[in-house]
Amino acid sequence: MAKKIGKVGVVGLGAMGAGIAQLCVEAGVETVGREVSMEIAEPARDRIAHFLQRKVDKGLLEQGARDDAVGRLTLTTDVADLAGCDLVIEAIVEELGPKQELFAALEAVCAGDAVLATNTSALSVTEIASATATPERVVGMHFFNPAPLMPLVEIIRAELTSDSAFETAFAFGEKLGKHPIRCHDTPGFVVNRVLIPVLNDCIRVLDEARVSVEDLDAGLKHGAGWPMGPCELVDLVGIDVHVHASEALYEKTREPRMAAPPRLVAMRNAGLLGRKSGRGFYTY
Ligand code: 3HC
Repeated sequence: MAKKIGKVGVVGLGAMGAGIAQLCVEAGVETVGREVSMEIAEPARDRIAHFLQRKVDKGLLEQGARDDAVGRLTLTTDVADLAGCDLVIEAIVEELGPKQELFAALEAVCAGDAVLATNTSALSVTEIASATATPERVVGMHFFNPAPLMPLVEIIRAELTSDSAFETAFAFGEKLGKHPIRCHDTPGFVVNRVLIPVLNDCIRVLDEARVSVEDLDAGLKHGAGWPMGPCELVDLVGIDVHVHASEALYEKTREPRMAAPPRLVAMRNAGLLGRKSGRGFYTY
């Protein structure tokens, strides 16, 4: 029932979109990456080329295979260039309006049976799909940061997603070498429903227990087996991204633990965004 994917589009080449595009080209799939300007798109391709070169340096990839993979990525600023894609994965700004606008535009240019996926982490896939006249082909494919390294992808069934679109997205997740899991469209899906309030609890503990950032991170790493501490992780995800996701989930669930701790909101407002701005809980 899954559709064969010969060509894929990735819209938005930020950290997540570029990571997803990297996975697609590594999996041997022709990929069109769309950004609003070439000034943003080209550095994203350079980052992908860099990470693939690191794999060559470490003996994990042949030089020729790396060059072929980089060659499979074409860049565009024009949504119309996604016309020939069998699957388009959206990874633009986490706001409903722009996502709905994009999905309506994708519906207008893509073939009738193309699958349209969103990488949203905290918005409703059903609401995004409602901007189209063909919501049955809209599905969630939620990757984790950094997408090339994290094995999971959540495949999210919105209210009207067809079995065919759902299984196509699932099979494509497997083709990318990921471990896909199936779920329905509920706030935070599976992992963020649990992870976001836990990370918010961790940040509250910083003040409550008067523990240092380093000790809190050591605590969760060495006492709970986390691969990185919560402060390191929020710095990796981006303080702004985490606050935004917390606010979106709080709005939907009204659970106090979902609300972003004031300390994180203050950091976001001060421009301390984590790794990407050079400073968050740590300095990079
Ligand atoms: N970004 C970063 N590194 C990349 C990369 C990319 N896009 N693509 C490839 N790499 C390569 C790098 O080249 C790097 O090697 P180098 O430093 O030698 O150049 C290499 O990957 C790092 O690989 P390692 O195996 O050495 O990395 P670690 O063993 O240190 O593991 C980790 C890193 C996988 C990030 C691990 O620390 C981890 O699992 N952390 C937890 C991350 C996590 O929980 N993420 C989920 C966040 S929540 C989320 O995303 C949801 C969203 O909706 C908010």
